[in-house]
Amino acid sequence: MANNERTFIAVKPKGVQYGLVGDIIKPFEQKGFHLVAMKLVQASKGHLKQHYIGPKDRPFFPGLVKDINSGPIVAVVWEGLNVVKTGWVMLEETNPVDSKAGTIRGDFCIQVGMNIIRSSDSVKSTEKEISLWFKPEELMD
Ligand code: PPS
Repeated sequence: MANNERTFIAVKPKGVQYGLVGDIIKPFEQKGFHLVAMKLVQASKGHLKQHYIGPKDRPFFPGLVKDINSGPIVAVVWEGLNVVKTGWVMLEETNPVDSKAGTIRGDFCIQVGMNIIRSSDSVKSTEKEISLWFKPEELMD
């Protein structure tokens, strides 16, 4: 079992604008995950296109990039046992209409284009995302 598994989450611009950063981060702290890195950052469109490789050919892609480029995001790395899967469960489904009450998307979002938080969905994607957003020296042991 890997206690040092890491995940990347991002509070998107609307989450920052609506003052939900604390509400989104708190459940991860309460759960007992370790905070490894956190920063407020304005991402360029080029950077976001590197981040969202999966949906790059989907019709919603330009809107997705525009939305996340519309203001600063809070990028966070959490560490702990099964943090990727547990973090995904805490956020719930990508589309908030399918998210249960008591989860982050279930409590704070209505529609998929405004789901206010991004989370890595696998150990493989989390490594790529962490290295895209943080330099090695920004990650605390
Ligand atoms: S894909 O194509 O399977 O990689 O897409 P998916 O993993 O479901 O979602 C990737 C990101 O695209 C966002 N998304 C959307 N944005 C706007 N409109 C629509 N219809 C839509 N569908 C998916 C989705 O929220 C994912 O972004 P993040 O930032 O991870 O939430």
